[in-house]
Amino acid sequence: MIRKAQLGDVPDIHALINEYAEQAQMLFRAPAELYEHLRDFYVCQEDARVVGCCALEIMWRDLAEIKSLSVEAASQSKGIGRQLVEAAVDEARQLGLRRVFALTRSQGFFERLGFSVVDRNALPHKVWDDCLRCTRRDNCDETAVVLDLSGT
Ligand SMILES: CC(C)(COP(=O)(O)OP(=O)(O)OC[C@H]1O[C@@H](n2cnc3c(N)ncnc32)[C@H](O)[C@@H]1OP(=O)(O)O)[C@@H](O)C(=O)NCCC(=O)NCCS
Repeated sequence: MIRKAQLGDVPDIHALINEYAEQAQMLFRAPAELYEHLRDFYVCQEDARVVGCCALEIMWRDLAEIKSLSVEAASQSKGIGRQLVEAAVDEARQLGLRRVFALTRSQGFFERLGFSVVDRNALPHKVWDDCLRCTRRDNCDETAVVLDLSGT
């Protein structure tokens, strides 16, 4: 079941994200930051467990970012990642956002969901704030992908 995150989900969200962060697949997020941004998050709950999460963070008047998308290894390839991103994109559409982007090493996953690769420099500079706390900042291997919501 995909639903908005609740306060009690934070320890599970923290564990999910930081397991991938340990493998340098995404940025660490501290519990304080997760509480602060909790309203951005969707989770996938199976039985009593959170097995996936995804955040939609508004960046600018027409732009939001998909962040911290994680599905636990044992639950991958069951459509959970797709459902999480679709929930975030639906909310973006309802908010009137025109574009949703992600910075990712899972380019193919996003392309299957209708996102297109764009030149990273086409995104506003504010997007790169997170790069300051990334160990790979001078050797970034992430691709920028964008979904255009105008007219949908
Ligand atoms: C990327 C991730 C979120 C995908 O979640 P998932 O639940 O396994 O994905 P889904 O089952 O919803 O897959 C949806 C589609 O994308 C495809 N897909 C999934 N991962 C893919 C990848 N890395 N590359 C290309 N295609 C991929 C699936 O085959 C599926 O295709 P289909 O619709 O034709 O069947 C998950 O692998 C993950 O958490 N990875 C580690 C963290 C990470 O890289 N997060 C992204 C940060 S931006």
